[in-house]
Amino acid sequence: MPPKPLINPGRRRLLAVALASRLGMPGRLAAAPHLHTRPIPASGERLPAIGMGTWITFDVARGPSPTPSAALTTRWQVLQAFFAAGGRLIDSSPMYGSAEAVLGELLPQSPGAEALFSATKVWTPGQWLGEQQMARSRDLWGVPRFDLMQIHNLLDWDAHLPTLRRMKAEGQIRYLGITTSHGRRHDDLATLIRNEALDFVQLTYNLAHREADTRLLPLAAEHGCAVIINRPFDGGRLFDQVRSHPLPGYAAEIGCANWAQVFLKYVISHPAITCAIPATSQPAHMRENMGALTGPLPDAALRRAMAARFDRL
Ligand SMILES: NC(=O)c1ccc[n+]([C@@H]2O[C@H](COP(=O)([O-])OP(=O)(O)OC[C@H]3O[C@@H](n4cnc5c(N)ncnc54)[C@H](OP(=O)(O)O)[C@@H]3O)[C@@H](O)[C@H]2O)c1
Repeated sequence: MPPKPLINPGRRRLLAVALASRLGMPGRLAAAPHLHTRPIPASGERLPAIGMGTWITFDVARGPSPTPSAALTTRWQVLQAFFAAGGRLIDSSPMYGSAEAVLGELLPQSPGAEALFSATKVWTPGQWLGEQQMARSRDLWGVPRFDLMQIHNLLDWDAHLPTLRRMKAEGQIRYLGITTSHGRRHDDLATLIRNEALDFVQLTYNLAHREADTRLLPLAAEHGCAVIINRPFDGGRLFDQVRSHPLPGYAAEIGCANWAQVFLKYVISHPAITCAIPATSQPAHMRENMGALTGPLPDAALRRAMAARFDRL
């Protein structure tokens, strides 16, 4: 049985009117400065090195139609700030509550969303359930196909990988990948990178958690696998660790006006990393985060110094 469409097109139109009247119609995209982009090894297609995550931050109530909730209006502003700064890759999952439905409501109202690189996940055991879940995600997002479909936390990966390969061959997805986080199952992920010709892997890497440096990142580069970095702020904990510390002197050298940009530039300056996906519920934070897409990046020597200094905090 085909999955039921969950987004009501009438609700989308009403929402567009309500958002426009609450906030005024958005302006055009500003002329973009030079942005840091990285090639996807499987195709050479370039992606901006900062994308966005949606776990927790986009799992919000949508409010009764036609009045969007205040939370929904704020997420619309987050999306506007993201696309206005040249963002493309948005990562979600059926695990993230209402996040996929919220994206499906807001993307049609978001200027710049035609540049979207849609990335979600399959997160259920079994091939049949996986196919149903992916079809439902497509309906929720309102996209004809996903750019990237990932197997969430390696869950039943050997059941889903053949499906993803078939979907890719049929043009239903453009890339396939596998995710993990919090340093879990790195041995399994290393084996999959070696044996399964993955287009993408997604894993955790940040100034406090650099375990991937030694094996996974070099392995991904060797096998032509694009790398998405989740939890680039360690779920927000990095900000707590530096709360009583002023910005270091090197921040100005690499064009960082705040700690968020320091944390993100540390991540995206790793040569094996394609894209970091910080999550935020706040438009001002999104503007800060997207600031890491421009200006100088630390070289290898400064990266080592940044890590050593962070370890001494
Ligand atoms: N296994 C998996 O596949 C997996 C696992 C984990 C995560 N992910 C993906 O990775 C994404 C990112 O990871 P994450 O959400 O766990 O953590 P994160 O991006 O490292 O941190 C998010 C936290 O940082 C705060 N923040 C964001 N920008 C900020 C700024 N400029 N200044 C101060 N605080 C800021 C946010 O609070 P505010 O809302 O107040 O800004 C939020 O609490 C997820 O959303 C999800 O898409 C995937």
